[in-house]
Amino acid sequence: MPVVHDSVYFDQWYADMAVSPTRDAIMARAMGMPVELRDAGTLIWQGLTEVTEGLRLAPDGLVVDVACGRGGYGIGVAQRAGARLVGVDFSAVALEHAKANSVRLLPAGRSTFQMGTLLAAGLPSGTADGLMCVDAVQFAEPPLAALLEFRRLLKTGGRLAVTCWEAVDASDERVPRRIRAVDLRRDLAKAGFADVEVQEKPAWRQAERAMWEAAVAAVDSDAAVRSLQAEGRRSLATFDSLRRVFATATAP
Ligand SMILES: C[S@@+](CC[C@H](N)C(=O)[O-])C[C@H]1O[C@@H](n2cnc3c(N)ncnc32)[C@H](O)[C@@H]1O
Repeated sequence: MPVVHDSVYFDQWYADMAVSPTRDAIMARAMGMPVELRDAGTLIWQGLTEVTEGLRLAPDGLVVDVACGRGGYGIGVAQRAGARLVGVDFSAVALEHAKANSVRLLPAGRSTFQMGTLLAAGLPSGTADGLMCVDAVQFAEPPLAALLEFRRLLKTGGRLAVTCWEAVDASDERVPRRIRAVDLRRDLAKAGFADVEVQEKPAWRQAERAMWEAAVAAVDSDAAVRSLQAEGRRSLATFDSLRRVFATATAP
């Protein structure tokens, strides 16, 4: 049966992670994420410097992290840029962890985390100086609808940074349907963004390969590790059919 990637699925995904130091250790090691954050996704920590630079935030600017998960990447950007942070996700469990992380890692009053979706973040128009979405735009149906929401949230001149994957060949049915639907260059233009730049990131992709290999080789220990291993086996089987992409753009 196909997996339904709804909030119930992600709540369980994050609940399993919360009791899996093994999963966190595999991810943090491969992604180079500081151990105190304990919540790496599939973006290498070094890549977050590029995301931060792409956002061009002024100190005290507001960055919105849509589909923020447990918050680590948005917190990393807020720390680097001296920015304020609003994180949005539809998983209540992820938001609880993100709040706890931000209390440990950001000055008081500099961040909030709230329930919202990729298509309706629940924030007023023209709120954000910068908006980031790390490895989640593929969950919007279609991804273009999320990009339109991102444009609505950004101030004129505000900057967007999106990381994701695209199919090398969009007709390749071995690639998950969601990823085949992602075409950031096409859809950022359709959404009316200016200064659209989409870069391929082979170094990020190589770190990801090492992470999947470490996951698959790990001693099976808990639900989160088993889930990571299943995803790793799937990813490694068709590894060269995806490319890692990083897009930046300016809201008109
Ligand atoms: C692969 S995780 C990435 C999380 C985080 N950006 C990171 O890189 O660690 C995907 C995230 O998207 C969120 N998500 C998926 N579909 C969503 C939707 N329709 N609205 C809001 N969040 C969604 C999930 O709850 C999950 O936190």
